[in-house]
Amino acid sequence: QNAWKLADHPKLPKGRTIAMVVLDGWGEAKPDQYNCIHVAHTPTMDSFKTTAPEKWRLIKAHGTAVGLPSEDDMGNSEVGHNALGAGRIFAQGAKLVDLALASGKIYDGEGFKYIKECFDNGILHLIGLLSDGGVHSRLDQLQLLLKGAVENGAKRIRVHILTDGRDVLDGSSIGFVETLEKDLSDLREKGIDAQIASGGGRMYVTMDRYENDWDVVKRGWDAQVLGEAPYKFRNAVEAVKKLREEPKANDQYLPPFVIVDESGNPVGTIKDGDAVVTFNFRADRMTMLAKALEYEDFDKFDRVRVPKIHYAGMLQYDGELKLPSHYLVSPPEIDRTSGEYLVHNGIRTFACSETVKFGHVTFFWNGNRSGYFNQEMEEYVEIPSDVGITFNVQPKMKAIEIAEKARDAILSGKFDQVRVNLPNGDMVGHTGDIEATVVACKVADDAVKMIIDAIEQVGGIFVITADHGNAEDMVKRDKSGKPLLDKNGSLQILTSHTLQPVPIAIGGPGLAPGARFRNDVPTGGLANVAATVMNLHGFEAPSDYEPTLIEVVDN
Ligand code: 3PG
Ligand code: CO
Repeated sequence: QNAWKLADHPKLPKGRTIAMVVLDGWGEAKPDQYNCIHVAHTPTMDSFKTTAPEKWRLIKAHGTAVGLPSEDDMGNSEVGHNALGAGRIFAQGAKLVDLALASGKIYDGEGFKYIKECFDNGILHLIGLLSDGGVHSRLDQLQLLLKGAVENGAKRIRVHILTDGRDVLDGSSIGFVETLEKDLSDLREKGIDAQIASGGGRMYVTMDRYENDWDVVKRGWDAQVLGEAPYKFRNAVEAVKKLREEPKANDQYLPPFVIVDESGNPVGTIKDGDAVVTFNFRADRMTMLAKALEYEDFDKFDRVRVPKIHYAGMLQYDGELKLPSHYLVSPPEIDRTSGEYLVHNGIRTFACSETVKFGHVTFFWNGNRSGYFNQEMEEYVEIPSDVGITFNVQPKMKAIEIAEKARDAILSGKFDQVRVNLPNGDMVGHTGDIEATVVACKVADDAVKMIIDAIEQVGGIFVITADHGNAEDMVKRDKSGKPLLDKNGSLQILTSHTLQPVPIAIGGPGLAPGARFRNDVPTGGLANVAATVMNLHGFEAPSDYEPTLIEVVDN
C-alpha cells in the first residue's frame, strides 16, 4: 500500500485550482488609528468578512496553538508556516530548548560533548540574538547555557551579541546588554574569563536570511572572527549607548563593533581550537552564518581566515542539508507535511514570494526542509527583494510582482495549487513606521485582488489567511488596551508581532456550493488549515492532522 495515498473526499471534487495566499503579519484587532489594516483602504479583505461571513473566520496564530511554550508567546513566521504546511502542532525550537535545558539533557548530547572538547585549550564563543523576544532566541536560555557551560568546564567564554528591537521594543537592547554584563561579571568573580566580544544590530550584522545580502553576514564575520569593525569600545554597554546616539539609530541596525582591551586589541576573536555555538533556535537567520562557519568550500565572501573550530548550532537548522552537522538540541521532526502528501497525490504546486519571505512558503512550509519534493510537480519562484533598504521606504515591496506571478501560474493551467506569501504587513510593520505600514496593507490587499480575479477566471478556489499578527497593532498597550507612553511622553511603537488571531477566508467559483466553515472547531488555529486545503483539493486529510475547518452542507 502506498502510505502517501490520500482518500477521496466524499463530497468535494478534484481538479480545482487553489490559490493559497498568506498575508504575512496580518492579524485581526480592534479598529483604531494604530491598526494599519483598519486605517488602510483594503476593500478586498474587508469584503470577505462582510459579504460572506460563513466563509470568513478567525484562527489562532500564537502560543501553544503553534507549538510555542506559552500563551504569552506571539506568533511568528517560522512556527506559523510550519503549522500551515504540516497540519499538526509540533513542539517548536523554543520549547524543545527549554526542555533540554531544564532536564540538563542538553549537556549529555553529542553536540555539547563536541564543543566541550575545546574547553581545556580554547574559548567558547556564543553568537546570537540578545533579547527575550522568543522568536529566534531567548535571553533566559542564553543565561542557562552560560551557567551550564561553566558547570561543565568552560573557563573562557566570549559572547557575540546581536541587538534586537524587532521582536521586542526598540531601545530595549541596552537593558539586555546590562543584564548579560552583570551575569558575565558574576562569572568573572568566580574566576571564569567571560566577556562580550563583539556586537551589532541583527538586521545589519549576521542575521540575514535566504541569501538576501551576504554583506550582512560578512560584517558579522569580520567582527566575530577577524576582530575588525568600524567601531571599537571597551565594553558593550557603552557601545550600544554611544551607537544609539547617532540620528536615526535603532537596535535593529546598529553598526558592528568589537570590544577591545586597554591596548586596543580585540578581546575575543574566533581562533583555531575554539568552540562556537550559535544560540538561536530559529533557522532562517542563522543558516547563512552556519554555512560560513561550517563549509570548507565557500565563495559567498572572503572569510580571510577560516578558523578550525568545533561548531554547534542550538538546533540543526536545515534537515535536508544537515546543517550544521553538530547541534545541541534536536529540532522538531516535522514530517509528512501537506506539501509532500499533495505532491504524491498528483497536485502540481507553484510557490512564490520575494527573497525575504521566499523560504517561508517553501522551506518553513515544508517542515524546515530545503529543496523540492518532486521537481517535476513543483515550481518555486523567488523574486529578488530590494537589498540594503528598510522597507518603510519601499512599502510596496514586490507584492504586485508576486501577485502577477501567481496570476500567470493560475491562468497557465499548469498548477493545482498556487501558494504565495505577501510580506508587506510584516516587513513594513517591523520598521515601526505607521504611515508606511498603512501603504503596505493597501498594496497587499491590491495583490490579493489580482489573485482572486485570476481564480475567478479559471473557476478556482481561494484560501486567504495570514501567519501571525503585526500590522494590525503598532503600539504597545496596557491591559485595558490603552496605548502606552514612554518616559518622554512619546508613544511606544510596537515593531514586533502580536498575540492576535488571523483571518481566514475561502471562496471562488470552484468552491462547492455547500462548503462553509463548521462551527464545532471554535479554537481552530493555523494547523487546521492544511486539512482544509487538502479537502478543497478533493482529498481527506490524514487522520492525525488537526481537523478541517470546513464542512459541506447539502443545499
Ligand atoms: C524576523 O526575523 O524578521 C522577525 O524576528 C520575525 O519575523 P517573521 O517571523 O515574520 O519572519
Ligand atoms: Co515578522
